[in-house]
Amino acid sequence: MTPKPFVPELFQEKLIHWQLSHGRHDLPWQENPSPYRVLVSEIMLQQTQVTTVIPYFERWMERFSSIQALADASEDEVMHYWQGLGYYSRARNLRKAAQFLQSEYQGEFPNAVDGLLAIPGVGRYTAGAIASFAFDTYGPIVDGNVKRLFCRFFGIEGVPGTSQVDKRLWELAEQYTPRRQNRTFAQGLLDLGATVCKPLNPQCIDCPLIEGCNAFHTKRTSDLPTPKVKKEVPVRQGEFLWFEKDGYLLLEKRAEDGIWGSLWCLPQIEPASSTLNVSLPLKGTFKHTFTHFKLEANVWQQAQAAVPSANQQFVSAEQLRTIGLPTPIRKFVEKHFVALI
Ligand code: ADE
Repeated sequence: MTPKPFVPELFQEKLIHWQLSHGRHDLPWQENPSPYRVLVSEIMLQQTQVTTVIPYFERWMERFSSIQALADASEDEVMHYWQGLGYYSRARNLRKAAQFLQSEYQGEFPNAVDGLLAIPGVGRYTAGAIASFAFDTYGPIVDGNVKRLFCRFFGIEGVPGTSQVDKRLWELAEQYTPRRQNRTFAQGLLDLGATVCKPLNPQCIDCPLIEGCNAFHTKRTSDLPTPKVKKEVPVRQGEFLWFEKDGYLLLEKRAEDGIWGSLWCLPQIEPASSTLNVSLPLKGTFKHTFTHFKLEANVWQQAQAAVPSANQQFVSAEQLRTIGLPTPIRKFVEKHFVALI
């Protein structure tokens, strides 16, 4: 028999009670949850797992301990601290957010969702998370964990991420978010999604919401949420140049848009470039998988002296320790750059 979903009050009561006894209480960003610490952690956690984020979060907070410190830092240094986390626009936006808060709010935060939404890089989820975690006030949140939990609990069919399904999920979040104990409630949603209502093998017997769960009672926990049809990811070829001279390596700062935006990289050339017609020796190859494509790269040893263009610079081993490089490029450089060996 299909159960009736709980009314919001019962859902809130059970979830909050469960969070207090079974949820997570020792994550670094739960300690002193200032709006700045919540902003940084939530942006880091958007596409990245908790265990990966923790050391990045701690290093970041040590170096950029306040909005002012982040607003004043150079883009290169900020990218260095993000190096390896991926989705680099998040780091650029965090720095812009700090500069925005510094100039518009004297380094303070607006404390309601509408004001928060004006901060660069802050969408509906992050605004709700700051309201909930930092201010302990009403702030609906819908991330991947919440989508899975709600699709199961309310028996929602259709692929999350499509506008129709997401609209419904946000309506439910608005309706089911309480007006008090928001910090505990929001953490409860994320904790339950991450530790009990997991993508595979959900632990329904441990769930405080089992009595009202549509998917459990209709035996559809493995069918909900409706899976995305997976597309095959295309393979793209990338051609890079290696030019090393007297302990310096030629690198290029990439444009803000596109992959590896604002990071320093080996100069990349068009696969059809005339540079490759002169059959340069191959220095090595690497592969990297992105969300939407696979990169298969060749690195060609450049023979004649290169004159750096405006976005290029010869960097020393020392300077390499202060700027951000994409992970596969960093690995390649660490293996081949004589100054580092
Ligand atoms: N994922 C996103 N936000 C989180 C948080 N505050 N705690 C744990 N996991 C999260």
